[in-house]
Amino acid sequence: MKNICVIGTGYVGLVNGTCFADLGNNVITVDIDENKIAALKRGEMPIYEPGLKEIVERNVKAGRLKFTTSYAEGLKDAEFVFICVGTPEGVDGEADLKYVRAAAETIAKTMDHPLIVINKSTVPVGTGDWVADIIRKNQPKPIDFSVVSCPEFLREGSAVADFMQTDRTVLGSLDQHAAEAVAQLYLPLRAPIVMTDLRTAEMIKYASNAFLATRLSFINEISIICEKLGADVIEVAQGMGFDKRIGHHFLQAGVGYGGSCFPKDVAALAHMAQTHGMHPQLLHAVMEINAFQRKHVALKLHDLLDGSLKGKTIGVLGLAFKENTDDIRESPALAIITHLLEQGAIVKAYDPVAMENALEEIPAINGCADPYEVAKDADALVIATPWNEFKQLDMVRIRDMMKTPILLDGRNIYEPRIMQSLGFTYRGVGRGYDGAGNSQPGD
Ligand code: UDX
Repeated sequence: MKNICVIGTGYVGLVNGTCFADLGNNVITVDIDENKIAALKRGEMPIYEPGLKEIVERNVKAGRLKFTTSYAEGLKDAEFVFICVGTPEGVDGEADLKYVRAAAETIAKTMDHPLIVINKSTVPVGTGDWVADIIRKNQPKPIDFSVVSCPEFLREGSAVADFMQTDRTVLGSLDQHAAEAVAQLYLPLRAPIVMTDLRTAEMIKYASNAFLATRLSFINEISIICEKLGADVIEVAQGMGFDKRIGHHFLQAGVGYGGSCFPKDVAALAHMAQTHGMHPQLLHAVMEINAFQRKHVALKLHDLLDGSLKGKTIGVLGLAFKENTDDIRESPALAIITHLLEQGAIVKAYDPVAMENALEEIPAINGCADPYEVAKDADALVIATPWNEFKQLDMVRIRDMMKTPILLDGRNIYEPRIMQSLGFTYRGVGRGYDGAGNSQPGD
């Protein structure tokens, strides 16, 4: 059992703090946002993350998990302090480090005994050294500390499982003892631990996310070629994936990647490369393809609706950037909707948990109570997020409610042949073969 302080109650802080408590540690989570801490103390979660509420409740009840707005209270007995604050995208893709700076300064001013400071926020390569510098300069009197980089690999929607069944833990530090002490915290997970220097650990995070984003842009580009040449990208990905060197993960073509990490991290890595005089061609292509993939949906609708979206009613199923989350940051669904609204379309939409967030962001969306209300009198229906509850809809009812049965399946959750046999004009992503031996017209 160790005493751990976690700074930040966003996805990273809340999930890590809660999971460390569940492993038997004493965890105190600090956030300067009084409303957030008050809500957490009442048992209300600031985010939708499957399974998280139950584990928070269990550990609060057991006395292993506490919440506070006070750094002094958080650091009082801590041996480890995890920095888990946001690093939003700043100007030109550069990561904005103001919250990391504020956390480091406050730790420095508050600490009264030696600490191991672990950075979990995704930060530009070199930030670990910078954090150490800030702490040193802001300490009223010198107290020992070490900085360890431990990048975050959790996915929203499956964050708790990702923590408990992690593929690996990466620890970067110039202080071997500090890195080994942090490694002890992760031993119960029985996953490989990669020990490196600080900068290498920070780079592993960017390189991992950029690689996964590259796979997605690759398969999305292949999907467009498939549409033109009459091949089916789902089968192409399957056929590729059995090659152990390739694997099946992250090869689902769709409406492009979104979320709080991939768009920001690819842009930040490109920015870092550029500021060092390099021309990161591949990263630029990855971003360009991703932007096009979103626009492509609107272009297809344009074609299917006789060249104009003006006054047409488009139903959109799904608003979150992916399933099992209420997060709408960089959501492809919202990018598509913005595009449709710019073209003069009327947009109706439904999402199981992200409605409130999306309506706040784009008030022009007509929020609906369920998928059938979305379909009613729509000229076309777009599936933008692959929630499970969209996978077994009563498609005959949907067809009969629509003005024209046009289905644009941005996540390939339906079978083209079945949808066509029901009378839909169906377009998936990269599903060039329409079941009758023809490639999709108009694509
Ligand atoms: C990602 C990384 O996976 C995680 O390791 C990191 O710490 C944070 O960023 P997350 O943003 O939660 O996690 O989502 P992820 O599941 O990776 O999906 C990212 C985007 O790619 C989503 O928009 C998703 O819909 C899309 N995606 C994913 C696809 O379009 N096809 C796929 O095959 C997989």
